[in-house]
Formats: sequence, C-alpha cells, structure tokens
Amino acid sequence: MTTETNTARSPKLLAIASGKGGVGKTWCAVNLCQALAQQGKRVLLFDGDLGLANVDIQLGLTPAKDLGHVLSGAVPFADAISRYEKGGFDILAGRSGSGSLSDLAPAQFALVRGGLLEQTKRYDRVILDLGAGIDRTVRALSSDVSRAVVIITPEPTALTDAYAFIKVLAAKPPAPEFQILVNMADNAADGERAYKTLLKACQSFLNLSPQLVGIIRRDKAAAQSIRSQTSLLSLNPKSPAAVDILAAAGRL
Ligand SMILES: Nc1ncnc2c1ncn2[C@@H]1O[C@H](COP(=O)(O)OP(=O)(O)O)[C@@H](O)[C@H]1O
Ligand SMILES: [Mg+2]
Repeated sequence: MTTETNTARSPKLLAIASGKGGVGKTWCAVNLCQALAQQGKRVLLFDGDLGLANVDIQLGLTPAKDLGHVLSGAVPFADAISRYEKGGFDILAGRSGSGSLSDLAPAQFALVRGGLLEQTKRYDRVILDLGAGIDRTVRALSSDVSRAVVIITPEPTALTDAYAFIKVLAAKPPAPEFQILVNMADNAADGERAYKTLLKACQSFLNLSPQLVGIIRRDKAAAQSIRSQTSLLSLNPKSPAAVDILAAAGRL
C-alpha cells in the first residue's frame, strides 16, 4: 500500500468517493456523519460535489451561507459552516450549478484546501463528499486526505469504475489509503461478492488490498429518507440500511 507521507495529510480528513455517480455517495456520507456524531465525534461534512451539490437538498436545509460565499470572498471558510442540529454534525454546503471544483482558479482552490485543513483542528472528522470520477479536485485533494472510502454497488459498471478510480489515484503517489464500502447490496453475501471481485483486481494488478468498511443493504427506507429530506438515522434508525451504516461507522 502506498503510504508516502505528505505534510498536509491529516488522519482526520476522509473522502467519500466513487468511480460512478448515483451509487449513494451523498446519502452514505450524510448518514455516516450522523453515525459518527452519535459516537460522540465532532464531524464536519463538506459538500464538494459542486456541480450537483445536494447534501442540503437531501437534508431539506437552506443554509444561510455556502461554499459560493467562500469562493466569492464574501466570508471566511469557517463562517460558511452551518449546524445540522437533528444530525448533530456540521455542514459546509456546496452550491449547485456552480460547475466543478476543478474549474476553480488556483487561488480559490487554495482557499478551499486551506479551509479544510484548518477545520481538522476543530473537528474529529472532516468528511468530503466528492463528485464521481477522477477530476482534478479529487486528485488535488487526494494528497491531503488520509483515506478515501470508495463506494461501490454490486453492479459491474460500479466495480469497473471504482477499479479505474483507484488505479489512477494509486498511480500518482502519495495516494490515500483506500477502503471499500458496498452500498445497495441485496444481502451480505451479495456485498461480499462485489468486494472480493474488486479486491482481487486491486491485488492482482495494483498490489493493493483495500479493506472492506461495510456492506449497506438496499433498503426502501433509504429512498424514503431522501424523499422526506431527512437522514435515515433520524427517520428510521432500525431499518436494515441504518443498522448497516452504524456498523460501518464503527469501522471508520
Ligand atoms: N442503501 C440504499 N438502498 C436504496 N436506495 C439507496 C441506497 N443508497 C442510496 N440509495 C438511492 O440512490 C440514489 C442516489 O443517491 P446519492 O446519494 O444521490 O448518490 P451519489 O451521491 O453517489 O450520486 C438516491 O436516490 C437514494 O435513494
Ligand atoms: Mg452526490
């Protein structure tokens, strides 16, 4: 595993990533943050999927400030953070339709990066919900995060895209430590199968053995939580996917 150190790398900074969109990255990020908060951790969720900023939408929030205000220089990074009281964690909301973080001017990107690193002093975990795929932002931030939790689903395309994602990042050391979270599995065996397929490819061709963080079952209550714009852990903490999220958070 690549563990070359970088001065900016923080063990508190963790990215939720994927090769493919629509695998439940944002949904997992929101619920993992709440699970970590329930364990007593101080958590900041950063919505870094600027094109499709949707942490606030999934949670029905209308934050007074978002990343747009930071990028325009209107407020410092720390002042754009808002509290999600119900979940017990903090959020820096993205701004939908503002393009990709990778389109940012270097000075703006430095604001974001500096802000994130600064916040690792105040929080136990700073979790980045990054856009799908390997854009420049993901690459740029991957030298700061200590871990990238790659979300996959048992679908073949999600697996191949996740493999490609890991391959590209691993080719440019220092790469973060990769962990795998399987979402939307029919059952534990289905999730294990997906993980093992990806693991085998990573071991054979990349000499990497990413750990399994957890398997989240496909659950109607998950979709329902998004429709009602609340976290699953608030809406239905005993549902199968909520139980799985709590177990996965224990391994983060
Ligand atoms: N475990 C799950 N079971 C059922 N549906 C899920 C699950 N996780 C996510 N979803 C659904 O997947 C869709 C995409 O989720 P989202 O978090 O927006 O994905 P991404 O951020 O990867 O694009 C959501 O509409 C959500 O309802
Ligand atoms: Mg998303």
